[in-house]
Amino acid sequence: MSADQQSALRPVYPVRTSRLLLRPLTVGDVDALLAYRSRPDVCRYVPFEPMTREVINERLASLWANTELTDEGQALTLGVELAGTGELVGDVVLFWHSRLHRGGEIGWVVNPDFGGQGYATEAAHALLGLGFDGLGLHRVIARIDERNGPSAKLAQRLGMRQEARLVHNEFFKGEWSTELDFAMLAEEWPAYRGA
Ligand SMILES: CC(C)(COP(=O)(O)OP(=O)(O)OC[C@H]1O[C@@H](n2cnc3c(N)ncnc32)[C@H](O)[C@@H]1OP(=O)(O)O)[C@@H](O)C(=O)NCCC(=O)NCCS
Repeated sequence: MSADQQSALRPVYPVRTSRLLLRPLTVGDVDALLAYRSRPDVCRYVPFEPMTREVINERLASLWANTELTDEGQALTLGVELAGTGELVGDVVLFWHSRLHRGGEIGWVVNPDFGGQGYATEAAHALLGLGFDGLGLHRVIARIDERNGPSAKLAQRLGMRQEARLVHNEFFKGEWSTELDFAMLAEEWPAYRGA
């Protein structure tokens, strides 16, 4: 796919994986979102503070209401639901940074009550599929605080390469943060697509 062909991502929901359904968040998810997005430990290395019910409702009505990517600068946040039980276990986000460079970025959050079972990895893998196969991205990155070991391990499990370690790159939540930059190219994705 060339840069000219890249126009939009309009997934058919739910996006299914072996154990999960990825789909837009709804007002019915408020309690489940609050259960983990209000937790200081969950928010330690992410670019938002612990959320209140009001903040979650505001996001649901604005940023999180987006269900497709039609231009650079947009973000698509999807809930991660257990196919077997219907429980919301986390959420993932795909950013479309540049149409010209076909660049994107992914992020993930999982409720610690559902951690350690590979759900975040499975959801992020599906998100890479949406980015490469759906949107035709050339390069997808993940930016991770070096102290966030579980997140760095997740990027490695996905097959992303660590490309950089930016020492004290950002003053983040009152401390200097050393940032690890991971990336995958479209030409590398086929080796991981079926993983
Ligand atoms: C980052 C985060 C999503 C990682 O959570 P996680 O539970 O380690 O990730 P997964 O759901 O993919 O589970 C992976 C773990 O389950 C294990 N696992 C069990 N079954 C598995 C399966 N079928 N497939 C893959 N992994 C499996 C893995 O071995 C791994 O455990 P390990 O790290 O002890 O080896 C979580 O810590 C989090 O939400 N943190 C707060 C938000 C955050 O910091 N986000 C990232 C910002 S950059």
